[in-house]
Parts: sequence; structure tokens; C-alpha cells
Amino acid sequence: MPKPSKYHLAPPPRPAATDRHALYEKAVQDPDFEIELLERCLKKAGRPARRLREDFSGTALLSATWVEGGPERTAVAVDHDPKVHDWARKYRLPALGGAASRLSLVQADVRHGPRGPFDAILALNFSYQAFHTRAALGEYFSHALRALAPGGVLLLDIYGGSLAQQGMVERRRVGGGLTYVWTHWPVEPITHRVRCTIHFERSYGRRLPGAFLYDWRLWTLPEVRDLLEEVGFVDVDVLWDVEPPGVEPRYRSRRHGKNQGTWLAYLAAGRS
Ligand SMILES: C[S@@+](CC[C@H](N)C(=O)[O-])C[C@H]1O[C@@H](n2cnc3c(N)ncnc32)[C@H](O)[C@@H]1O
Repeated sequence: MPKPSKYHLAPPPRPAATDRHALYEKAVQDPDFEIELLERCLKKAGRPARRLREDFSGTALLSATWVEGGPERTAVAVDHDPKVHDWARKYRLPALGGAASRLSLVQADVRHGPRGPFDAILALNFSYQAFHTRAALGEYFSHALRALAPGGVLLLDIYGGSLAQQGMVERRRVGGGLTYVWTHWPVEPITHRVRCTIHFERSYGRRLPGAFLYDWRLWTLPEVRDLLEEVGFVDVDVLWDVEPPGVEPRYRSRRHGKNQGTWLAYLAAGRS
């Protein structure tokens, strides 16, 4: 019979049920789905799926899921906000155990992030829309290109559609009596500037404090694709949802899409 340990191992700390970062992850992120999509892109490009850079990482959920995928996998999570990485150090790294040694948290602007080389760079949840000018977005894409190994892939997401031009509010229950509320104000037609917020409500519409605010430019898909090609990316592929609205999405490479009120797609861009 094993002797009882004289050291008490404390369980890793867990965020409160109303912690806004924990709620964001639950309501918005789907790392398994996105990693599967990335693995497909890397396989197509003939690259190993090992060294990942997660740009605009927030709490580094994706990086953590990546390093949990195998001992050969490393990740660098890049965000300019020190608070999101403080959160990750407190709650994410302890829960990762030994795999935490393969995840680095880097506080930097993504335009000056670590050089790599990386097999893949991910920039999700439309975060590059924080760049309002072509020069700023182009600088980011150029930097990402240089940080990729030959054959490496940058994966981004993008949304659009006629309803995305107008104001819209999406409400979804996320369990524990809480509702996720996404508000998208109408797009300003001259600059394409758009403000969005995420907040969480208890029953009867009582808001939790600490909404997320985004001041974005709604970039169109051809603008983003042209800019990726202009800075030197090759094989820029549009992964379009081929299922009808309301059905579990399935993204496949397409050259043309059907017009819809709202749509979400991915762009996979390669380094030669
Ligand atoms: C919408 S969250 C994305 C969180 C997570 N990656 C996801 O996919 O849901 C955007 C994050 O990007 C960060 N961010 C915005 N502009 C940035 C920049 N220029 N450089 C680095 N991080 C930036 C913000 O601090 C924030 O944590």
C-alpha cells in the first residue's frame, strides 16, 4: 500500500464562474475545431504541425490546446495586453502540468512578435481588424510572413454579409443562468469602422461588469486576400462554409461563395 504523501498537492486554481475571460472562452472559442482546420491546412502544405504562434492570443486557450496535442508541439502566444497573460499564468499554466514548459507567453504587438520560424501562425476571432489602415495591416502580414518557415501557413478568420453592415445583436445562453450578448453596431460606410461589444447577463438582463469592447475596421475578403498576396503570401485559399445556415459548419476551399445575410470564412495563406 503506498504511503500517504507528506506534501499536499493543491489543485490548480480555477477562475470564478462569472470570470469574464472564462466566460469568453466558453461562449466564443472552439480550439479543437480550429486546430483540426489548421492541421488540414498544414497537411495540404506538406508541413509538420509542430511550432505554432498564436497572435492576439488573449488567454492562450488555443496554444494550450495545441501543446496538449503531443510532446513535439510548442506554442508562443502573443498579446500586447499583460492582463490576459497574467490570467493565463494564474489559471492556464498550472492546469497544463508538464506541457506548460512548451508554451511561452510573449507580451508584444503582433507586428513585432517573435521571429520563429513557425510552422503556423493563427490569428482568430477577427482580431486583425484592430488595424484600421492598409499600412498597419500590411505591416502585420509582412511580419507574419517572415516569421513562418518555408511552406508554413497563416490562418485567419473573416466575416461579412449584408447583415454585418447593419447593427445586430446576438444572444446565446452559456449555462449557469448566464447569457452571452454580442452587439455589432452599424458599419460606418466611409471608413468601415465598426464598434462591437461582448457582455454577459444574468437572468432579467442584469449585466456582469467588464464588457469586452472592440474598435475595428470591417475588412472585406478581397481586400484581405489581395493584401496577403501583395506582401508575398502564396496559395491564399478561402475556406468557405459549404453547409446551409443552421447546420454544423464544414469549411472547404472555394473560389466563389453564395451571398448570405452573414457568413464566416477562413483564409489560409502560405509561405513559399
Ligand atoms: C478578440 S481577442 C482574441 C482572443 C482569442 N485569440 C480568440 O481567438 O478568441 C483580441 C486580443 O488581441 C489583443 N490585441 C489587439 N491588438 C493587438 C496587437 N496589435 N498586438 C497584440 N495583441 C493585440 C487584445 O489585447 C486581445 O487580447
